[in-house]
Amino acid sequence: MSEQQHREQAGQKSGFETRAIHAGYEPDEATGAVIPPIYATSTYKQDGVGGLRGGYEYSRSGNPTRTALEGNIAALEEGERGFAFASGLAAEDTLVRALCAPGDHVVVPDDAYGGTYRLFDKVERAWGLEHSSAAVSDVDAVRAAIRPGETKLVWVETPTNPLLNIGDIEALAGVAHDAGALLVVDNTFASPYLQQPLTLGADVVVHSTTKYCGGHSDVVGGALVVRDLEVAERVAFHQNAMGAVAGPFDSWLVLRGLKTLGVRMDRHCDNAERVVEFLAGHPDVTQVIYPGLEEHPGHAVASRQMKRYGGMVSFRVAGGEQQALGVCERAEVFTLGESLGGVESLIEHPGRMTHASVAGTDLEVPADLVRLSVGIETADDLLADLDRALGARA
Ligand SMILES: Cc1ncc(COP(=O)(O)O)c(C=O)c1O
Repeated sequence: MSEQQHREQAGQKSGFETRAIHAGYEPDEATGAVIPPIYATSTYKQDGVGGLRGGYEYSRSGNPTRTALEGNIAALEEGERGFAFASGLAAEDTLVRALCAPGDHVVVPDDAYGGTYRLFDKVERAWGLEHSSAAVSDVDAVRAAIRPGETKLVWVETPTNPLLNIGDIEALAGVAHDAGALLVVDNTFASPYLQQPLTLGADVVVHSTTKYCGGHSDVVGGALVVRDLEVAERVAFHQNAMGAVAGPFDSWLVLRGLKTLGVRMDRHCDNAERVVEFLAGHPDVTQVIYPGLEEHPGHAVASRQMKRYGGMVSFRVAGGEQQALGVCERAEVFTLGESLGGVESLIEHPGRMTHASVAGTDLEVPADLVRLSVGIETADDLLADLDRALGARA
């Protein structure tokens, strides 16, 4: 029995970093390999018809590398069971079809990742699923958006992408449960190191593991973690029936990323705090958006439910869209690109890039907004780069 299993049997939960490094996998019986092998196999030899070894029969249904990742992320989110998918959106689609039927309704954030909104608006709606949007930071607005009897899911991101609004997970879980709905939290921006929604009453956690979980911008993946066995069974059925699973190579990369999540997140937060301080003092920056700032409207809730405030920073510039685009183009250490959560710093213009698909909808973002994914480079180099990109101080 491993150290972790001993502790768990004794009712002591291992620390986050210990779980990140050990949960989901025991050194290989045959070789002692401390890291799970990449099981590049589609099928498995059976010991007689139906004589499966470890339950494996076909790799869409189960693959040991994916199993290790699923066990690991479930332990990090303190959930009952984890599921790994080919992308965050594949995880989302699978979850929605597992828990909703045509004619049902969901409440989605009015400040969601553009691709999530597009999924609800252009794909799930055509399937018969209605949606309404509400501000995640406004519990009453979420309650008002619920259609009693029809709303099956309340879906929130916190912090949101890209405006970093904060939803009160505990309060929103109460609102959803009072209406007989489940609360789904997209925990991509915070990562399980900074926030564990299931411990605050959420029913399902969604991740784009492409981001902080993978952490190195070298894989696209998604995950779901659920806290209830009945929900787990429905998701398991749909994961296999729909087939958008994470492959073994991708599972291995995400699992490797998760081992260092804690140390990476602390450095992302340290650097983000330096960047926020710098931007707040810059004359051409009209607003800095970061939940760690006391003036952020979600600061008190974020302080309650998050360990720290994360590596994402958004800001608005004087000079409108042209200046925002110019800043993105002049930055050099901050690479101009979509995505987030990797070790390298990225800069983007949400209005023209990640959120172009929501232009003209309630979810449209300001044209003078710039979003940073602050990486783990030397902080002084990041500040010098932003100083150059913003132009000389007045
Ligand atoms: C908050 C959030 N959720 C979900 C997704 C979708 O994930 P993926 O791109 O892995 O499909 C993204 C992608 O940017 C995201 O930022």
